[in-house]
Amino acid sequence: MTADSEKDIQYLKAAGRVVAGALRKMIEHVQPGMTTAELDQVGNEFLKKEGAKSAPQTVYNFPGATCISVSPVIAHGIPNETVLQAGQLINIDVSAELDGYFADTGASLVVAAHIPEIEKLLDATKSALRKAVHSAQAGKPLNDIGKVVQAEAAEHGYNVIYDLTGHGIGRKLHEEPHEVFNFHNPKDRRILTEGMVLAIEPFLTLGKGRVVEKRDHWSLQTIDKTLAAQFEHTVIVTKNEPIILTL
Ligand code: CO
Ligand code: CO
Repeated sequence: MTADSEKDIQYLKAAGRVVAGALRKMIEHVQPGMTTAELDQVGNEFLKKEGAKSAPQTVYNFPGATCISVSPVIAHGIPNETVLQAGQLINIDVSAELDGYFADTGASLVVAAHIPEIEKLLDATKSALRKAVHSAQAGKPLNDIGKVVQAEAAEHGYNVIYDLTGHGIGRKLHEEPHEVFNFHNPKDRRILTEGMVLAIEPFLTLGKGRVVEKRDHWSLQTIDKTLAAQFEHTVIVTKNEPIILTL
């Protein structure tokens, strides 16, 4: 959507605050021994208390309020009886609707451990998100986002996941502009416009950058079962720095 009124901006900010709050609360609760279903419950209760509705659940009938992916699953992991263990790399992705507006955020983390090899991947992915957000400016090519993400990945010796992209958001969970690539695509000629609402979500991996769907028809795991990380913010594009809704 294009946020072209103060009302749009305020409502989007409110939706952004709620998903960011749910994600923060879930991260605080992560501990070895708990199931991903229990962790999902923490997020679900937060969303409900704030009057928000889980987007994956209401829009796609996803069997959970949030997506919790345990490596090598990197997206759309179903909360279930899987027990979290120290040292596991996981991803939590929260998207929700509040008063007709959608926001989307996500983060990867290691369960109760410090593993330098994984921290490096997490830092590079965070840095890719920061630089991608910074590059998103009205009048510039939308694919600058992909260029920046891919360059940051390469600089640290990683690949992007080519199959997973950011997206337009706002009045729906996924809307125009579809497929905000995380790589340089010379065929992509789209230009960013003022007020455009985007979910920017770089995925970096140690592997070759492809995912496959598991038999549950939701979970996407790296094809070579390598580690991967994602961080995501919903932003409103302006003439200068974008407004980050999910800090
Ligand atoms: Co997301
Ligand atoms: Co998203």
